[in-house]
Parts: sequence; structure tokens; C-alpha cells
Amino acid sequence: MEAASIVLFGATGDLAMRKLYPALFNLYMDGKIPSTFSVIGLGRREWTDEYFQSHIAKALNAFSRRKPDETLVREFVQAFRYCALDVNNSEDYTRLKELVVQREQQLGLAGNRLFYLSVGPEFFATIAEQLIQSGLGETAGWKRLVIEKPFGRDLASARELNEKLSHFFSEEEVYRIDHYLGKPMVQNLEVLEYSNPVIHALWSNRYIANVQITAAETVGVEERAGYYDKTGAIRDMFQNHMLQLLMMTTMHLPNPSTPEEVRRKKKSVLESLRPLQPEDIAAHVIRGQYQEGVIAGQAVQGYLDEPGIEPYSQNDTFIAAKLWIDNHFWKGIPIYIRTGKRMQEKSTRIVVQFKDPMESYNDPRHTTAEPNLLVIEINPNEGISLQLNTKDADHPGQFVPVRANSMTHAADMPEAYENLIFDALRGDATFFAHWDEVELSWAWVQPILEAFEANALPLYTYKSGSNGPEAAHELLGSDKWWLDK
Ligand code: BG6
Repeated sequence: MEAASIVLFGATGDLAMRKLYPALFNLYMDGKIPSTFSVIGLGRREWTDEYFQSHIAKALNAFSRRKPDETLVREFVQAFRYCALDVNNSEDYTRLKELVVQREQQLGLAGNRLFYLSVGPEFFATIAEQLIQSGLGETAGWKRLVIEKPFGRDLASARELNEKLSHFFSEEEVYRIDHYLGKPMVQNLEVLEYSNPVIHALWSNRYIANVQITAAETVGVEERAGYYDKTGAIRDMFQNHMLQLLMMTTMHLPNPSTPEEVRRKKKSVLESLRPLQPEDIAAHVIRGQYQEGVIAGQAVQGYLDEPGIEPYSQNDTFIAAKLWIDNHFWKGIPIYIRTGKRMQEKSTRIVVQFKDPMESYNDPRHTTAEPNLLVIEINPNEGISLQLNTKDADHPGQFVPVRANSMTHAADMPEAYENLIFDALRGDATFFAHWDEVELSWAWVQPILEAFEANALPLYTYKSGSNGPEAAHELLGSDKWWLDK
């Protein structure tokens, strides 16, 4: 990998502390970033380099997945410098440029620059423009812009933002982070499908009855009321993470495939997604809001009692939807997606339910059989299991399910941000969201946003610690959500 400078906006923020510094450190421990590198942290506060470095050391102690070794931490933080910056002040960018160039010369770096925007989306366009106008974008090496979600809050605002950014950075230079795409098991999905003939052969509507994608969380709104009450589960999770999981699960890749091919196939999944007509939304989408309840033995308050939430907020903390992909592979079988806060357990998983051939042969024994299920656990632990039927030794003529399992624990796996920063530094955009995907995702959810805005759908409530509103179970008709506890 070529050595690079990382210019980090939002260096004093929460994401940097919890995720970005630990990710860089773990990459450093694994020798995945060059031993000579430069990070320039930017923020509004007036910090010294020493204070910044001690802040990073603290962040590593608190949040690194592997225990940091003190000597290594001391060595690691030497690469970091701090520069106070007001994002609107062009003189500050001139100072920043001097510092970037100075560090490049000191360290003998070739001028590769990764601009990482860990700030609110309202600053993206201004920063991109200032970077270019200050001359920071003119460099002998490459330049890349990494941005975090949310990318817009509806189709129109996302288009407007993209239009602005495109004046300063080309699509190839923009790396839009969706941290779900950095999760090791999500990155593994394409491999699972094409490297296993057993799965490859079955991966279509011929053998699959339905696909269920769940991202359940036990946390509530936390300290993010200001953001979340205007965002809801539909914008916070569904438009991005959930639709990315859908694309990654249902695309069919040639072997071997290229990053362009992955993005092309993902795009084609969204193009085949059946658009929702306003009159169909209520039959396909369920929204919910949590009430008080108990999670892991702890009483928790309802959404409307959370600090900072509008007293009569109609915001969705839960979404379930039934989708149809009208292409050759998936036509006719439903894809169920749901995500919610304050649910019974933290679990992100994909369950693929296979068809039951005995049912179509009218074999009476099928009533004692469970369907074959392929379960892909993404978070908190990772695992794959396959549920099969075996003969029930105690009850002749009946079956019992067995599950073949593999499981890895979270601490032993790289975190999403490690994978993503590593890829951005080496210029592999496979697991970043292309503008086409972002635009098509917003286009698909736009009628839902409008229906929510117009209050055209019921807002169901659900108890904290449950599996969501009853209506989300009814949405599945004669199917059921698997593996709910
Ligand atoms: C973030 C959302 O993108 O993803 C949060 O803004 C959510 O609301 C988080 O809690 C969930 O991520 P993970 O990796 O814990 O499933």
C-alpha cells in the first residue's frame, strides 16, 4: 500500500474516538498501514498536538477491540498532528495546506491524500469546495474524499448534495461509507455464494421460499434525540444499511468478479425492486414506535419520554417491509426486512428459508418437518448455520431439525471501520456505496417518506424488549419471522 496523509475533519468527535482511532490502531498493529503515515486532525477546538495525542491514547484504551500495548500506542500517536479549523474560513485551509505539505516533506510522503469527513452532511459541500479552492486537492499523488452517512434526507436533497460534490471530486474519488458494508460477514456474502456450489445452485426463487433480513437493536435513541427524531428508522437504517444488506444478499456475481461488477450487480437489484405505489404502502410497510418495557432485566422508558423527543412525535423507531425483486432470480418470492430500536436482543442476521418439496408432493410427513434454513449471523457475533431435518429416533415417521453451526466471536474479527479505512487507503471501492445505489435507494423509499409525512399509515406501538409490533408479524401472512426469542 502506498503511504498517505489522512486529513480528518471531526477529529475531536465521537465517531473518531469510538471507531476511527481504534480502527487505525488495529490496522497499525497488523502492519496493514505503512509504518510512515500522517494524520492531521481538525476540529473547532484549540487543542495542542500533545493534547490531541493523549486524547487518542485514551480513545484506544477505552475502545480498541484488542488491548493496546503502551509502547506501541506511544509510537502510533507520533503520526498525529492537530490543526484548529473553522470549515468556512479559507485562511484556515491555507494553514492546513502548509501543515499537510510540511508533514509530507518531513516523512517523505508522495502526496497521496485521504480527506475523511467525520462531520454532519451540512458541511460536506463547503469542505469539498474549500479543499479544492485552497489547492489541497492539487497533489502529485491521489486524492480521495471519504464521507459518512446520512447522504441527504430524501431523494431531492441527496441529488442536490451529489451535484455539489461532483464539482470538486469525481465519482471515483468519493468513498461513501455505509459501515454495514465493512462488516466481515457482509463482505463474506459474495464469497459464500460463489465459492460454495451448494449455495450457488440454490440461490434463487426455484428453491428459496423467502429471505428475511433483520437488524434488531436493544439500545434506544441514546443521546441523539435531535438527529434521530427527525430521521427515524427509515432514514437511519432502512434506506442505507438494510437496502445494502438486501443488495449484497441477492446479487448474482460472475466468478471472478471485479469491484465494478459488484456495483453493477447491486445496482441492478435496486432497479428490479418493485416500486411501491402510494395505495400499496400500508400493505407492505409497518412502522412502529417503542413504549416502555424491560430489556435484559432493566426497565426502560418509552420513546416519547426520552429526553429531547417532541411530546407527540410520530417518529418511527421500527420498520418492517415486504419487498419484491422482479428479476429472473427472485421473481415471486417475498423479501422481508425489519429493523428497530429497543427490541429484545441485538441481532443482525439474514435467514433464508427454503421451499419444502414434501409439501408439493403432498407427503403427509411434511407437517413434522421444519424448513431448511440458512442463517447468516452478522452481528454481534458472526456465524453461519444450516438447519436440516433428520429422522426422529423416538417418534417413527417424524423428523427433528438439527443445525450445523460455525460461530466466531466479535472481538476476534476486524471491525467494520478497519476494513473500510484499509480499502479506502488502497483504493478499493467495492464496499462503498456508489452514487447510483444511493440515488436508487432514496428513490425507492421516497413514497414511504411521503406516506409517513402525511401520516397515511398507522403508527403502531411496541413494548421495549419485544420483537416489534404485532402488525409486523401479520405482514408475513402465513410465513413467520424465524429465530425470534
Ligand atoms: C448507525 C445508526 O448507522 O448504525 C445507529 O445511525 C445504529 O442508529 C447503528 O445504532 C447500528 O450499527 P451496528 O453496527 O451496531 O449494527
